[in-house]
Amino acid sequence: MFLRNIWYYACPASDLKPGKMLHKVLLGEPVVFARGSDGAVFALRDLCPHRGVPLSAGRLCAAGSTVDGKTLGEPQIECPYHGWRFGPDGACKAIPALVTGQEMDIGRIRVRRYPVRELQGNIWIWMPMASDGPVLDDTPEPDHEPPVMPEVGERSPTLIERMVFDCHVDHAVIGLMDPAHGPYVHRSVFWRSEKSMHEKEKAFGPSELGFTMLPHTPSKNSRFYKILGGNLTTAISFRLPGVRVEHITAGTRGHVVGLTSVTPLTETSTEVTQSFYWTLPVLGALKPVLRPFVRSFLKQDGDMVNIQKEGLKFDPRLMLINDSDVQAKWYFRLKDAWEKGGGARTGFENPVQPASLRWRS
Ligand code: FES
Ligand SMILES: [Fe+2]
Repeated sequence: MFLRNIWYYACPASDLKPGKMLHKVLLGEPVVFARGSDGAVFALRDLCPHRGVPLSAGRLCAAGSTVDGKTLGEPQIECPYHGWRFGPDGACKAIPALVTGQEMDIGRIRVRRYPVRELQGNIWIWMPMASDGPVLDDTPEPDHEPPVMPEVGERSPTLIERMVFDCHVDHAVIGLMDPAHGPYVHRSVFWRSEKSMHEKEKAFGPSELGFTMLPHTPSKNSRFYKILGGNLTTAISFRLPGVRVEHITAGTRGHVVGLTSVTPLTETSTEVTQSFYWTLPVLGALKPVLRPFVRSFLKQDGDMVNIQKEGLKFDPRLMLINDSDVQAKWYFRLKDAWEKGGGARTGFENPVQPASLRWRS
């Protein structure tokens, strides 16, 4: 159903304050994110193995605090029902109801641990193979790392907008990489009009876990690029499972990086987060103008997906045409290749070949 053993965008790092927990359903699984007072983030399955209570409803006990007469060497999440505590490794650390003599190897009681990375203001989560049992062996370490945004150093995004689309992740992803919907769906004063449609040709090549529209001068009929001034080049890459990165170089003036991440929450809902990083001072002043623009842009896509949902209820056969849907075809081929490679970076062979695609938009 969903790709596994791969990094998904979880949330902006700023969602998770020190000493706090955050509950999210990702790929249909309940997850609790926690940030200890030292700033480190960890994530566990958000279900107590005892009676299934969400751990996020309990409390996060800080490293160094004294709980039940013991000083903790690490942050621990305490279940609100019977006070079982779990460490960042997912192992049970305490069952307060046990009395002396009731020996039990409590460390063998585990909740699933999800590897996480905090990177450039984002939290990424590694979603391992699905498993139904509440008691699990420890998760193996990831065999690759999440994507790094180019030319922005350690910066966090300056602008973040997100929206939940009521669709399966595949529809959100192929909507994202669909070059032909712009003049119709984004037909607002902010973007481009049907009248300015013209033929385009873009060169593509394979890249890490996906493909890249190679650096080129962006379309003149888009207002967003106009704001950035002249002498622009842009490169747009896509990588599994649903990460699109647009890197715009504005001559010697600086860089703009747009990260669009698409993360399945459930079978029928998908979170789309649009983040922007920039090193270009002019955009700082424009931020109040840009935010509603990005918001309405996302909403236009979300509204279209909701209209599409009405048709998809009838389970129609769908089409992918050349060349405007070739990126969508590649997406499905990339997914197949991921499965064929056993869901491991080492087994994955990128099926995308260099190509030049033409369409009108
Ligand atoms: S349900 Fe969590 S400790 Fe009992
Ligand atoms: Fe769109």
